[in-house]
Amino acid sequence: MAAGKGTRMRSQRPKVLHLLAERALLDHVLDTAQGLGARQVVVVTGHESAQVQTAVQATERAQAPVRCVAQSPQLGTGHAVLQAMPALTDDGMTLVLSGDVPLTTEETLRALVAKSAGTHLALLTVQLPQPTGYGRILRDAQDAVTAIREEKDANDAERRVTEVYSGIMAVPTAWLRGALDKLTNNNQQGEYYLTDVVAQAVADGLSVQTHCIQNAWEVAGVNSAAQLAALERIYQRNRADALLDAGVRLADPARFDVRGELVCGQDVEIDVNCIFSGCVRLGDGVRVGAHCVIANADIAAGAVIHPFTHIDGEATGVQVGEGALVGPFARLRPGARLGRDVHIGNFVEVKNSTLADGAKANHLAYLGDAEVGERVNYGAGSITANYDGANKHKTVIEADVHVGSNCVLVAPITIGAGGTVGGGSTLTKSTVPGALTVARGKPVSIANWQRPAKKK
Ligand code: UD1
Ligand code: CA
Repeated sequence: MAAGKGTRMRSQRPKVLHLLAERALLDHVLDTAQGLGARQVVVVTGHESAQVQTAVQATERAQAPVRCVAQSPQLGTGHAVLQAMPALTDDGMTLVLSGDVPLTTEETLRALVAKSAGTHLALLTVQLPQPTGYGRILRDAQDAVTAIREEKDANDAERRVTEVYSGIMAVPTAWLRGALDKLTNNNQQGEYYLTDVVAQAVADGLSVQTHCIQNAWEVAGVNSAAQLAALERIYQRNRADALLDAGVRLADPARFDVRGELVCGQDVEIDVNCIFSGCVRLGDGVRVGAHCVIANADIAAGAVIHPFTHIDGEATGVQVGEGALVGPFARLRPGARLGRDVHIGNFVEVKNSTLADGAKANHLAYLGDAEVGERVNYGAGSITANYDGANKHKTVIEADVHVGSNCVLVAPITIGAGGTVGGGSTLTKSTVPGALTVARGKPVSIANWQRPAKKK
């Protein structure tokens, strides 16, 4: 069911801040349904029906087809499920899920389906110390479920019940079809309540089972930015716990975010406030300092990423070689490929460039579209002038070259192996191996020059 306004979060979804919402909430639910091996998935749409339908159909799904049916007007949860019935066959089970409840685990749903055993009505329930707003599970003296009572229809004693209905049930389809046809809207909200099928089941002699879960977050819905942020923290905590279980040393699992896939080797250490997105692989013994943002990168064994480093390989990827040292405050952009023991220091930007083993750029530098040889030392303030305003050109710096400070290498250009480029040089032509090349403008000094007076 996704007809209610709960799915509003889809259109308001902040693209970067929440993994949960980076993919629509409904997609999480559809993935779970597919994971269970559903024969047919039906999405009941209503609020922003057209947008939801377009988004559902835009996502390719390997397994069961996803069909959308519109519910208009929205006359309640029972009426919503009724819209889906023509798409379902009588020989199966129906599992009712909510489109705005993203974190229910497959394991829980399998247990629920097992409770229904193909013939019973099975309700997913949870104990809530503060059950306000939820339908209460009513039981008789033998503890058998007799009904679900909505908050607005409940008396004081019923409101004190803390076992609530999650909104999720598994039920034999053939029986459900008949039960939905008999629903009435004779209640405080004037709605057709799906929950009223419980009392009908009792009257029909259909056994009603419950599966009560401990983790309230599994059935928590998202109707506001605050709820989304709260569920995101739970989702992240679950991911952090899985990494801790695998032996990854997180300085603080509460200050850690993975918004994609993070694969870690042995003895990996991650300090606080790091964000990983896209696909990131950290080899054995990698250490990541505090406040790093790393996306789409492959970081080999023993490399150290110092604090405040930003790495984003986007579609091309970034590779950091074994034992390399990166940061603090470094920036690696798409196509940065660092060999073994490469050092990239503070305020150094590397884009679409290969640095061979042992090359160093330790301070304030730019390397773009460059091929840098082994053991090259690239000085502070030096840049590759790779862009002429229309096209990008390549810079080749052969092995063992020393580039002094404040050099501009105007590409296309090759600096021959073992050469030295004197500090402050602007080079527009390639150099021969082993040469010392100095290319500075002639100093101009004007005698008796006066600084202009400041205008008032
Ligand atoms: C419902 C249950 C309540 C349960 C709670 C759990 C009913 C009558 N009550 O309450 O017992 O504790 O969920 O969260 O079922 N929807 C439609 N069409 C509609 C109405 C709702 O598609 O006409 C969808 C919503 O998009 C949502 C789901 O059904 O995904 C639940 O709707 P919501 O309004 O949140 O349910 P409640 O009435 O709060
Ligand atoms: Ca409601």
